[in-house]
Amino acid sequence: MDRNQLLHDLSEFLRIPSISTLPAHNQDCRAAAEWVAAALRRIGCRGVEFLGSETHPVVWGKGPDVPGAPTLLIYGHYDVQPPDPLAEWTTPPFEPTQRDDRIYARGAADDKGQVFCLLQAIAASPRPAVNFRFLIEGEEEYGSKVLFDLLKREPQRVRADAVLVADMSYVAPGWPAVYTTLRGLCYAEITVRTSKTDLHSGEYGGAAPNAHEELGRLLGRLKGADGKVNIPGFYGPVQRPSKAELAAWKKLPFNEKDFLNKRVQGKGLVGLKKASVLERLWALPTFEIHGILGGFTGDGAKTVIPAEATAKVSMRLVPNQKLAPVERQLAAAVRRFAPKYVTASVRFLHGADPAQIKIDTPAFKLLDQAFKEVTGRGTVPVRAGGSIPVVPALASAGAPVILTGIGLPDDRLHAPNEKLELKQLWDGIDVFRRFYELLGGAGAGAGAGGGGRGNGR
Ligand code: BES
Ligand code: MN
Ligand code: MN
Repeated sequence: MDRNQLLHDLSEFLRIPSISTLPAHNQDCRAAAEWVAAALRRIGCRGVEFLGSETHPVVWGKGPDVPGAPTLLIYGHYDVQPPDPLAEWTTPPFEPTQRDDRIYARGAADDKGQVFCLLQAIAASPRPAVNFRFLIEGEEEYGSKVLFDLLKREPQRVRADAVLVADMSYVAPGWPAVYTTLRGLCYAEITVRTSKTDLHSGEYGGAAPNAHEELGRLLGRLKGADGKVNIPGFYGPVQRPSKAELAAWKKLPFNEKDFLNKRVQGKGLVGLKKASVLERLWALPTFEIHGILGGFTGDGAKTVIPAEATAKVSMRLVPNQKLAPVERQLAAAVRRFAPKYVTASVRFLHGADPAQIKIDTPAFKLLDQAFKEVTGRGTVPVRAGGSIPVVPALASAGAPVILTGIGLPDDRLHAPNEKLELKQLWDGIDVFRRFYELLGGAGAGAGAGGGGRGNGR
């Protein structure tokens, strides 16, 4: 198909500001779901449905039945993160723009561009012998509650020979990847209250407690300057990667200096000194502060002692850690570290268990072959620092979950000037088209995950 036409279609999708976490954009999320539904119908799906539509609907679709062929479930998300700070975008986040063979827009790489790529690869295939199933959700960036509930009610939706998720990137330009772990997440608000109302900082300052000061000290106790998280029990289940895995990481095209200078673009890295940077990013849990609310932040100056302060924080979890115990550990640590004269509370917003994927099943070999044929290099196994909450649920019926992607590490996910390189998109369409062909050629059971053979219902 004509590339200009494809970019036009993708731009239509990218133009919809489907920001799942902001209620003002509920209609836009709906519009993005409609766009996905129409795209699924265009590639031959019948029975396209909106499921669990109390909030942002999950779009379900079924390609034409091909008796005896393997079933491939494709997962993706049509929602995006908020685009702020807006002033830092060269062109507006929801006005997709092409510059230097890239397309710039919120969602270009995460995940609309990749969903588009997976679907376009089907359109570009001459009748692949694959039973396609689709779960394209609209709440991934907000914890995937709708899809979790849906899969609890209807676990048969994930019965397949393989599940394909393209929501990640190559590990470096020219180096396609498959991911063996995803970190989990525990997102919370910590609130500290020190008095009934705000107080004059002259009349009371020096004797009355200050909520921001107390919150600052509390946060400082939860994580030290050495990068260690001091929540009791937190590191208990964490295991170091094997020697073999650590050795393999040394051979990856990853350089700590380049990571600092070209990607972080800061003056120094932080974190546990005894661990390599990749180990910190992929195999260790984290504690991050996302924002602090409360007190006076308007123009000019106001002399006030704030009575309340709230921090939005999250912890990334690694294999063997579990969300529920970590929630309990954080709540207990906050109780323990807050002084008696402070009321401290924790509210949990969303979370996810980490995921671990075995990549020794046949479907991975076929993807490896497809990448090798199209890009000249097969997939390297790596780990991911990010999270996709439903991946453990997608794996629950035993199908192998293939975590891969066509983005590049510098696509600026969740940040200003997110982009997707057009070469990555065109290659990606060829890669997945070839993958579908190979999978179809391998016949039913090709995923060989164990619970497979989900030939629809
Ligand atoms: N596509 C990302 C996850 C990702 C990014 C995995 C980079 C590996 C490398 C996904 O859209 C995402 O951002 N997930 C959120 C989930 C959270 C809000 C529950 C995340 O990781 O912050
Ligand atoms: Mn994503
Ligand atoms: Mn994301």
